[in-house]
Amino acid sequence: MRRPLVAGNWKMHGSRAEIATLLDELMQVDSAKTTAETVVCPPFVYLQDAIRRLKESTIAVGAQSVCAEPIGAFTGEVSAAMLKDIGCRYVIVGHSERRALYHEDDHLVARKFVAAQSQKLTPILCVGETLEERESGRTEGVVARQLDAVLTVASVAAFADAVIAYEPVWAIGTGKNATPEQAQAVHAFIRGRISARDDKIAGGLRILYGGSCKASNAAEIFRMPDVDGGLVGGASLKSEEFGRICASA
Ligand code: 13P
Repeated sequence: MRRPLVAGNWKMHGSRAEIATLLDELMQVDSAKTTAETVVCPPFVYLQDAIRRLKESTIAVGAQSVCAEPIGAFTGEVSAAMLKDIGCRYVIVGHSERRALYHEDDHLVARKFVAAQSQKLTPILCVGETLEERESGRTEGVVARQLDAVLTVASVAAFADAVIAYEPVWAIGTGKNATPEQAQAVHAFIRGRISARDDKIAGGLRILYGGSCKASNAAEIFRMPDVDGGLVGGASLKSEEFGRICASA
C-alpha cells in the first residue's frame, strides 16, 4: 500500500526564530502518532537549521525549488548536489508560483525533476490547471501536457521514486479547495496516464492534493482512493492545524 505523505510548503514565510518554534511544535505533534510521512519545505536559507533541528525526528526536509543545472555560473541558484549535501530529501519542482511568476516552463520543470533525481532527492512534481483552463474544459489536457514533459525527459521508471502533487491553481491560497470528487477525478486521470506506461509504478505512486487544504477539509479529500496525502501551504504554518492534517492522512 502507498504510505500517505503530507508536505508543508512554507513558501517565503517565517523568520529563523519563528521556524525554530514551529519545528519544535511539529516534533511534538509528530510524536503523537500519524502514519503519514511528514515533510516540511522551509525557505532555502533555513533548510540547514531545520535539518539540524529535526535530526532526531521522523520529519523530513525538502526544498521549494532547485536549479536544473548541476554546477557553474548561475548566480542566485542552488544545485541538487548542494541540497543533498546538507541533508535534504525532497524538492518541490514545478510549483504553479514558479511556473507563473518565474516563467518556468514544462521543459525546465522536467529538467529540474531530473536534476533532483540525479542526486537521489525525491521530486514532488506539481501539476494543475488555472480557473480559466478548468472552465474551458482543458484540465486534463493541461495536466497531461505537464506530466508528459517529464515523461519525455525522464522515463516512466523515474516515477518509482517521485511524488506528484495536483494543485489546481484556482485553489491555491484562495480558501476555495477542490471538492473531494474534483480532486479524485484528476488524481485518477494522473494515475491512469502513468499506468498506461507502467501499471506497477502507477500503483505505487503517491499523488498529493494541494490547494486550500485545511484541517476541516483534509479528511474528506484524503479519503478518496487516488489521493495519498497533501501539499499544504498556509495551513502548514500553524503546528496544531498541520498536525491535524497529518493525522487525517
Ligand atoms: P495553500 O494551502 O495555502 O492554498 O497553498 C497550497 C500550495 O501552494 C502548496 O504548495
